[in-house]
Amino acid sequence: MRTVIGSAALALAFAPALAQQSPYAEYQRMARESAPVELFELAGEEAWKKKQGPKNVSLEQCDLGQGPGVLKGAYASLPRYFKDTDRVMDLETRLLHCMMTLQGRSREEATKRVFGNADNASEMEVLSAYIAGHSHGMPMRPGTSHAKEKAAYQLGQKLFFHRAGSWDFSCASCHGEEDKRIRMSGLPVLYKPQVARPLIATWPAYRVSNSQFKTMQWRMNDCYRQMRMPEPMFGSEAMVSLVHFLTVTAQGEPYRGPAIKR
Ligand code: HEC
Repeated sequence: MRTVIGSAALALAFAPALAQQSPYAEYQRMARESAPVELFELAGEEAWKKKQGPKNVSLEQCDLGQGPGVLKGAYASLPRYFKDTDRVMDLETRLLHCMMTLQGRSREEATKRVFGNADNASEMEVLSAYIAGHSHGMPMRPGTSHAKEKAAYQLGQKLFFHRAGSWDFSCASCHGEEDKRIRMSGLPVLYKPQVARPLIATWPAYRVSNSQFKTMQWRMNDCYRQMRMPEPMFGSEAMVSLVHFLTVTAQGEPYRGPAIKR
């Protein structure tokens, strides 16, 4: 983690104008210096190796796309198509699959508490931190060649621009035009690669404003909440497709997470 902090500080050192212009940039710099991302990664390692479920085994043989138990580069290659389930999966969906198949846990039990709180992070959150950390510095390369990967991208793109709910919002209502913001938060135009790249390549992330480690699925849920839409189903095809669309838009960017967000 020290290298992340170092390189981020270095980037800011070369952008003094930006740091001066924006109090938010300065705030981010200060927050980065004291973020406890490593602690979540350590807790994640423990969760990865912990024997549990009816079969009393760990997740260590979970195949995240690079072979059973291979963590290096796994996150940077997701979402991708998996032959054994015949569908595109992102990290969290694949982890749920491993919990159910390897450990014999039920979907209900494994998803009972996917989002934790400031006192107690969830298993999914710490696992995401641990696994994503093994892709640090590697280019984001989600799957794009399989027919189902292409279909996922298209569905995700459609969902991004699809207006619905009581306010008739789409993702693009907030993330579709330059220079929009809500209070101090800038609203990034996420369908543009140059905007999406540095942001998507830093999830999952520690969120300073509420001292919690947050997953990509949480980000999707919270934006749907802001759209006054019902809470999305964990690991659903729609959610995976949306994450896939965002990740393909950001592809090629070296992964720099788990990082710090506002
Ligand atoms: C009502 C406005 C609104 C809508 C609609 C909305 N978002 Fe957001 N979104 C936000 C805000 C505000 C933030 C930034 C929060 C912050 O600064 O922490 C954000 C942040 C994000 C981020 C993180 C960017 C980063 O900094 O890394 C992603 C990814 C994202 N939204 C995706 C989506 C997607 C996908 C949809 C559609 C399902 C969506 N949003 C719909 C308001 C919205």
